Amino acid sequence: MIKQEARNILQSGYFHPVLRKWHTSSTSISADNLMYPIFITDAKDAVEPIKNMPGVYRYGVNQLKSILSPLVKQGLKSVLLFGVITDLEKDKTGSSADSTANPVVQAIPNLRKWFPDLVIACDVCLCAYTDHGHCGILYDDGSINNMDSIRRIGEIAYSYGTAGAHIVAPSCMMDGMIAAIKSSLGYLVHSVSVLSYSAKFFSSFYGPFREAAKSAPAFGDRKCYQLPGGSSGLAQRAAERDVREGADMLMVKPGLAYLDIVKQIKSSHPEYPMFIYQVSGEYSMLYLAAENGIMDLKAGVTEVLQSMRRAGADVIITYFTPKILEWLAEGDLS
Ligand code: PBG
Repeated sequence: MIKQEARNILQSGYFHPVLRKWHTSSTSISADNLMYPIFITDAKDAVEPIKNMPGVYRYGVNQLKSILSPLVKQGLKSVLLFGVITDLEKDKTGSSADSTANPVVQAIPNLRKWFPDLVIACDVCLCAYTDHGHCGILYDDGSINNMDSIRRIGEIAYSYGTAGAHIVAPSCMMDGMIAAIKSSLGYLVHSVSVLSYSAKFFSSFYGPFREAAKSAPAFGDRKCYQLPGGSSGLAQRAAERDVREGADMLMVKPGLAYLDIVKQIKSSHPEYPMFIYQVSGEYSMLYLAAENGIMDLKAGVTEVLQSMRRAGADVIITYFTPKILEWLAEGDLS
């Protein structure tokens, strides 16, 4: 009897493709929901594979036009830029983060020229530019000097804004970083949006990124400025603080292990676009599982993206963006 009922439901209109779409429209995935993170190195002609992120590369400025052109044609709407330096110097204050030789500073005006409709966001942090690899300025005893750190973060955000970035995205998790950026942007405050990495958890999923950005800390770890995995309260307070300081958009990072946090923050601040960063470890985990025949990549990634949209993400920052654009060109992702 029960079996018969189940069959009736399956054969009824509930699972007609059109009805399936009606039931899932708020979790649909299109190019508008994607932001593509790109590593730009100071070796201008480079195309360097990243060992722990198969399919992801560091590109020199001279490669960007040919790499991005086909993606923009396929509908790419926005990118998130990370600078990586090998030849430029690393020091205590991360001087190379905003020097005129910085790969991101050099890339921005070119990207604006080549792709006038592309939204350009820049990660703002010190870890790829400091000799100690931490995300802020340190006192001599190795602890974080918060005031100097946020002043410096403000300067870097200003330089990316001046170069033409639409969005600056501070990822350092320093207290007061949003207020510092807003005041340092000056006249740019009306044209540059601030996307805060509001709830950024201390996570083993960042492992492959540290290789990609050459930003592993030389000593210690980031526990004293990134959130403890078990705390939804601190995540909520961090988001509240960013909202108070004037953030324009909010982010939770990583994604998959923190979807409850996404839902919680999105529910309390539906008026803010919510971003999820599907980080390097999440990418490699799915990619390698598929490569080893454990699951189908398209089906697995689609399912994860849907879960992120269901939790409340408006935009997903993902290294899978080129693949997803390809899949979208073949038809709906559902
Ligand atoms: C820098 C930064 C990190 C990531 C984005 N910005 C690394 C970290 O905080 O240790 C991680 C992104 C990824 O893993 O893909 N502060």
